[in-house]
Amino acid sequence: MPDMEVLSEALRYIRRFQGLSVVVKSGGHAMVDGSTMENIARDLVLTRNVGIRPVLVHGGGPEISRVMDRMGKEPRVVEGLRVTDEETLEIAKMALIGNVGTRMVANIWTGGGRGVGLTGKDGGLFIARRKGSKRVRVGGEEREVDLGFVGEIVSIDTDVVETVAERGYIPVISPIAMDEDGGSLNVNADEVAGELAGALGASKLIMVTDVPGVLRDREDPSSLVSEMSVPEVRRAIEDGVVSGGMVPKLEACTGAITSSTVDRAHIIDGTRPHSILEELFTDRGSGTMITLGEKI
Ligand SMILES: Nc1ncnc2c1ncn2[C@@H]1O[C@H](COP(=O)(O)OP(=O)(O)OP(=O)(O)O)[C@@H](O)[C@H]1O
Ligand SMILES: [Mg+2]
Repeated sequence: MPDMEVLSEALRYIRRFQGLSVVVKSGGHAMVDGSTMENIARDLVLTRNVGIRPVLVHGGGPEISRVMDRMGKEPRVVEGLRVTDEETLEIAKMALIGNVGTRMVANIWTGGGRGVGLTGKDGGLFIARRKGSKRVRVGGEEREVDLGFVGEIVSIDTDVVETVAERGYIPVISPIAMDEDGGSLNVNADEVAGELAGALGASKLIMVTDVPGVLRDREDPSSLVSEMSVPEVRRAIEDGVVSGGMVPKLEACTGAITSSTVDRAHIIDGTRPHSILEELFTDRGSGTMITLGEKI
């Protein structure tokens, strides 16, 4: 009886992940569409209801770009990182905390759960410093681009996240960090998710985005790579098989699995209903799974 097979498979995974944290990062692209956000929220609530602790980190790239367009500012992204001047930082805060974060909390509520919005500033969750500049190739020449108020995480204090998760809430984290003087920095949400998964001792890191996973050919959704080892990821970045927003995502995945309790990281498609449940509770999983591969 196929239904019973599905159920027994799911029950095994539910038991395995009991009481453990799973960090889910949902990309801004996957959340532009209201029904995708609803799907993600529903899966998080179901996961929470069977005794697993999901912690959500959200991005908001398209929402930030939309507000910038409206204000006549041209968005600029270098290797998946948004060049952030003072005005862009204000827009990012508004779009991430004021819009995407609160909408996600509301979707969790209507899905039957309780979400709590947090930023990196709450409880000193993550302290960051400016990343500085990046060397990029523009046309034929190499140039230094100052990223402005883009942060990289220096320290993480997970207490506030653990406290709310223990009490049954689903933390919804906006990727705005505090600098050492109490100011704000914009941190790539993939980086936040990777570092947080490590600091929480999470068992899994799931990156939910708007593509089926890592594609060998970006134009061809059927060219999905279902499994990649850390050395294969490095090669794919060097060879340019992956680019743009996929680069910080893969770097966050490899960072988490090489240096923490996270033994698997996944990149999955949020536009497909129940892709999170499929990843967590079935043998076949979904999307691209990143594993350590051969130990060097
Ligand atoms: N080889 C590849 N396979 C799949 N996607 C790729 C590849 N190379 C680059 N990409 C791009 O990476 C994008 C995903 O990263 P992106 O940063 O745009 O989204 P996100 O991280 O989900 O959202 P946000 O940045 O708002 O949090 C895809 O939409 C795709 O355009
Ligand atoms: Mg991104």
